[in-house]
Amino acid sequence: MTATTEPILEVDGLVKHYPLTQGILFKKQIGAVKAVDGVDFTLYKGETLGIVGESGCGKSTVAKMLCHLERPTAGVIRFKGEDITRLSGRALKAVRRNIQMVFQDPYTSLNPRMTVGDIVGEPYEIHPEVAPKGDRRRRVQELLDVVGLNPEYISRYPHQFSGGQRQRIGIARGLALRPEVIVADEPVSALDVSVQAQVINLLDRLQSEFDLSYVFIAHDLSIVRHISDRVGVMYLGRIVETGRDAEIYDHPTHPYTQALLSAVPVPDPEARDHRERIILTGDVPSPTDIPSGCRFRTRCWKAQERCVREVPALAVPDVFRAVSGPAAHDSACHFAEERQVVPAEGEHGNGPG
Ligand SMILES: Nc1ncnc2c1ncn2[C@@H]1O[C@H](COP(=O)(O)OP(=O)(O)OP(=O)(O)O)[C@@H](O)[C@H]1O
Ligand SMILES: [Mg+2]
Repeated sequence: MTATTEPILEVDGLVKHYPLTQGILFKKQIGAVKAVDGVDFTLYKGETLGIVGESGCGKSTVAKMLCHLERPTAGVIRFKGEDITRLSGRALKAVRRNIQMVFQDPYTSLNPRMTVGDIVGEPYEIHPEVAPKGDRRRRVQELLDVVGLNPEYISRYPHQFSGGQRQRIGIARGLALRPEVIVADEPVSALDVSVQAQVINLLDRLQSEFDLSYVFIAHDLSIVRHISDRVGVMYLGRIVETGRDAEIYDHPTHPYTQALLSAVPVPDPEARDHRERIILTGDVPSPTDIPSGCRFRTRCWKAQERCVREVPALAVPDVFRAVSGPAAHDSACHFAEERQVVPAEGEHGNGPG
């Protein structure tokens, strides 16, 4: 399936603050870890949205909230237009079926005492309506086949598999309930480079085979490049730039994205010579103590007085806004390199004003 302009997941002002407490007996809240601090994005049906950012910027916390493994402190998550943020009971169960997660570490996310058959078929225990008991073994074998594993391995244990095969088991499990959205949290980060491409190719194939939409989380821009239609760059609990994959790679407008990209190796020597290597100074500030105004300003070479006072919105200044929807290229910087995005064929821009 190819990307559409029909939103499947919409995230609006998503926040997760973990209370920071002191004392053991009488816990006193002394602050908050602002793990996710106002995230907005839309996932369109059939597309892959890559989310990248350094360790600790809140990627996994976003993933967990999308899959209802964490409750948001604030904000709204919509699935096909319906607010699913605070569902409970049956309605929650129905939605959860549709949004499944694939985890980062295939070595620790699979229960070592369960057989592959039990692991992949476990979701049917929670959703027996999807597969009657007598039909589960056949379904699990089919899933193993779909992800490129021998269906006869159904009785084996996770330790009998390689890292790449284990991640295939995790993916088969994620597919068991036939979800519409898969949130993959660094699904290849723990794998050898040679195996990463195989798993990415598998995810790519499954996307068209099962009409899936992906949120694909990674540390590294070079990994998401292969699979993403669009990319969102996260910094300290927020998305600071988002746009089509080629826009982000070829014309990054946010200084943080420019810095991240300058660290990605470029195979073409000529392109390499033309690119400046940006070395960021200073550490990432603590999520318990986020800078005022623009959160990136303490490490930014463009920062000015305005950046201390004013939080930049994730948008293109109105006069430059050419398009909305999947083709929009937004940047949360007061001094973003303003660039008019050319709409792709078949897409209509809002036009300025
Ligand atoms: N349960 C929790 N309680 C308190 N703080 C937490 C909790 N979970 C995450 N955090 C903090 O929230 C911030 C974001 O964590 P998160 O795991 O979402 O980051 P990440 O981008 O996935 O990082 P990584 O790339 O290392 O996986 C970190 O500072 C982390 O320490
Ligand atoms: Mg993580």
